[in-house]
Amino acid sequence: MRTYLVTGGAGFIGSNYIHYMFKKYDNDIRIINVDVLTYAGNLENLKDIEDRDNYTFVKADICDKEAISKIFSENDIDRVVHFAAESHVDRSIRNPEVFVNTNVLGTAVMLNCAKAAWENEDGTFKEDKKFLHVSTDEVYGSLPDDDTAFFYETSPIDPHSPYSASKASSDMLVKAYIDTYHFPANITNCSNNYGPYQFPEKLIPLIINNALQGKKLPVYGDGKNVRDWLYVEDHAKAIDMVQEQGKLGERYNIGGHNEKQNIEIIEIILDTLQEMLPEGDPRKELVSRDLITYVEDRKGHDRRYAIAPDKIKEEIGWYPETMFKDGIKLTIKWFFENEDWMKNVTSGDYQKYYAEMYK
Ligand code: NAD
Ligand code: TYD
Repeated sequence: MRTYLVTGGAGFIGSNYIHYMFKKYDNDIRIINVDVLTYAGNLENLKDIEDRDNYTFVKADICDKEAISKIFSENDIDRVVHFAAESHVDRSIRNPEVFVNTNVLGTAVMLNCAKAAWENEDGTFKEDKKFLHVSTDEVYGSLPDDDTAFFYETSPIDPHSPYSASKASSDMLVKAYIDTYHFPANITNCSNNYGPYQFPEKLIPLIINNALQGKKLPVYGDGKNVRDWLYVEDHAKAIDMVQEQGKLGERYNIGGHNEKQNIEIIEIILDTLQEMLPEGDPRKELVSRDLITYVEDRKGHDRRYAIAPDKIKEEIGWYPETMFKDGIKLTIKWFFENEDWMKNVTSGDYQKYYAEMYK
């Protein structure tokens, strides 16, 4: 039975990944989830699996060498899937330091502890041990408008925000371990995810949440920045496929020609909410295009992201299965069915963040 050490498993993608893995492998794997539970980490995301015998949660900081090496010494870890990070661009513009700490130093600790646990005396590594570093397409910088250019694995690394710079730095550290020690790792660079359990500081859940309350929908700049949206379960599947079928030492881009302008995304959400809200529901009156409010642009706002998924498709056979029109319905349905989740995560500190960010 393989043992996984998943970092950041209480966050958005990490919790979806854990659900996906138990759905796929059931009792054939064991997962240890290490998360320090920042504002973005929420154990409620995992409540339906927390009682499984093959699941353990450890509250620890990935920057804490002792805590992480203890997990490696007490468990025979076969796979590391490293999600833990500070993940929001706007927060990184306001407070870059924590991004360097968690994303760069935390990744260094994860690499060091895995290397110490997996390395043989002669510098080779034990059989079948693998580390997957989960990263973003934002490390490639920005593509121009109306262009047919895409991000390839060979595209230059050109990050602009403190967030993407910290992720690019962590990618480089992983690459250094691969190149220097032949450390058994892969890097994945994925486009924007959406789906259940996404924290409403990110565009899609923020718009759903605001629209249902008749609150303004803040659009940065001209609203024509483009992101390449991927349903989170497709990302979880890609991570597992890269780890099991990918060539060690390689980087794989994950995404799939689902580019949309922010304003298009907002209009699709408004239309879909209208379509899905039952007649007579008072929220139907609130959901309206009149809520769209253009606000000051994000500093250094990347214009366009677009992934060329050729390598992962050709080498591994992965492709995005969920069309945006279906994925957005699944996401909205999940938010309708989990109103308490949204209420809980938007109480307290979120209110302060929102008031400060959108003042
Ligand atoms: P998230 O912010 O929802 O979750 C991050 C998780 O990491 C939280 O549970 C948090 O508590 C935990 N964490 C933060 N600092 C930690 C620390 N020092 N020690 C231990 N745990 C810590 O993020 P997400 O959107 O789920 O993203 C997960 C990963 O995927 C990140 O590495 C991110 O860069 C990458 N990624 C995200 C997207 C996206 O669209 N969200 C796209 C591509 C790649
Ligand atoms: P976001 O979800 O923060 O992801 P990222 O910045 O990592 O791509 O933002 C997605 C896009 O939506 C980005 O171009 C910024 C824009 N945006 C808004 O226009 N308004 C908002 O309130 C937010 C949060 C984002």
